[in-house]
Amino acid sequence: MKIAIMGHGVVGSGVVELLKLNSDFIKQKAGESIEVKKILDLKDFSELDYADKFTKDFNDILNDDEIKIVAETMGGLNVAYKFVKECLEHKKSVVTSNKELVAAKGAELIAIAQKNNINFLFEASVGGGIPIIKPLHLCLGANEIVEIAGILNGTTNFILTKMIDDNMSFDDALKLAQNLGYAEKDSTADIEGFDACRKICILSSLAFGKHIYPENVHCEGIKGISLEDVENAKKIGGVIKLIGRAKPTSDYKLEIMVSPSIIMNNSQLASVKDVFNAVLVRGNATGDVMFYGKGAGKLPTASAVVSDIIDVVRAKDNIDTLSWKDSNENNIVPYTDVVSDFYINILNPELKDISDFFANSSIISANENRQALVLKNTTLKSINEAEEKLNNIGIKILNKLNILDY
Ligand code: HSE
Repeated sequence: MKIAIMGHGVVGSGVVELLKLNSDFIKQKAGESIEVKKILDLKDFSELDYADKFTKDFNDILNDDEIKIVAETMGGLNVAYKFVKECLEHKKSVVTSNKELVAAKGAELIAIAQKNNINFLFEASVGGGIPIIKPLHLCLGANEIVEIAGILNGTTNFILTKMIDDNMSFDDALKLAQNLGYAEKDSTADIEGFDACRKICILSSLAFGKHIYPENVHCEGIKGISLEDVENAKKIGGVIKLIGRAKPTSDYKLEIMVSPSIIMNNSQLASVKDVFNAVLVRGNATGDVMFYGKGAGKLPTASAVVSDIIDVVRAKDNIDTLSWKDSNENNIVPYTDVVSDFYINILNPELKDISDFFANSSIISANENRQALVLKNTTLKSINEAEEKLNNIGIKILNKLNILDY
C-alpha cells in the first residue's frame, strides 16, 4: 500500500518513524506492507535519508493513482480543508490528526468519504495516543452515552500540574511546556481552551450523532487561574483541571462546555497529571469507562494516525459507524443555566457578611481581604446576579469555578 503524508512536523515525522520502527508488526496487522511514497512539506529536509520523497506540490500526491491513503498532519484549517477535500473527492482515503479540521468540517468530509465509499478517519484528533474514537463508535456502540468528561489538553494539564505540585508560576510552566513540544504552534489554542473545545465537540458529535460546532460552545481557558485558586482548591480536597464535558438533557438538549473546574481528589480525573489526558465516558450499560494516556507528543499521536492507516488498508468499504450528520440546529443549553456546585474567590476589603447574597454557601477560607466560598447546587446566572449587587457595595468576585463530581 502506497501512502502520502501531508505535513512533516512533529506528528508527520512521527508517522514516518513509527512505520519504520514497527514495520513488521504493521505489515502483519494491515495484511500488506505500507510504504510512504510522497511527503508534502514546504520546508527543506534534504539532510534526511528519505529526502527523495519530499514534494512541495500537492498535485504530485493528488494525481498519483498509486497513492490510496493520505495522512494529513499539517494542522490548521484552510489549506488542510482544501487538500483533504480534494483527496477525498479523488477517492483517496484520508486519516488526520487535525482536530481543528474535524471539529469545523467533520460532517462534510465524512459525507464525501461515505459518498465515495472510502474513509475519513481521525483517531489522532482527540487524546493523542489514547484510543477513544474507535471505542466510542465500536466498543461502546451498544450504549446510550449519558455523559462525557475529559482532560483533553496536555499543555494546560502540564501547566496546572506544575502550579499544583511545584507552585510554579503560569508563565514559567507555559515556557516549559513549549520547550517540551507539547503546545500548539500558537499556544493560544491550548491556553484559551480552544483545543480542548474542538476535542469535546468531536467526541460529542460522534456520541450524539449531530455535528456540534465549537463556536456554539462556551469555552474558558486557564489564564485566569491563580496560585491562590490552586491553594483554595486544595483546602476543599480538590485540584483544578481544564475539563471539557458534554451531557444530553432529558429534553433532548445538550449541556456542553470547556472550563477550568475543581475536581475532588477521589475522582480518577484528579490524578491525571502532566501531559496525560483522560476521558471519562458514562454509558447507560457500562457505567463509567475511563481512557487514559499521553494526549500529545510525536510517537503517541503517530500511533493513532498509523492505526487509522491500518484500518483503512483492512477496510474494504466505508466504515459507516464512524459518522454523524450535519446540523444547523443549536440545541445547546446556555452555560449560565447549567446547575453545579461552585467555588468563588471574593475580594472583600472590609470582610462584610455576605451570607445573604448566596443560598447554600459555606466559607472555605477567609484572610486579610479575601473570602473563598463553596456554593452548592446553583447556576452561574444566579452568581452573576449576586455579583452585580456585591459590586454595588464594593465587593468583587475574583474567580468562579465549577466544582464537578466525577
Ligand atoms: N497541543 C495539544 C495538547 C496537542 O497540548 O494537548 C495535542 O492535541
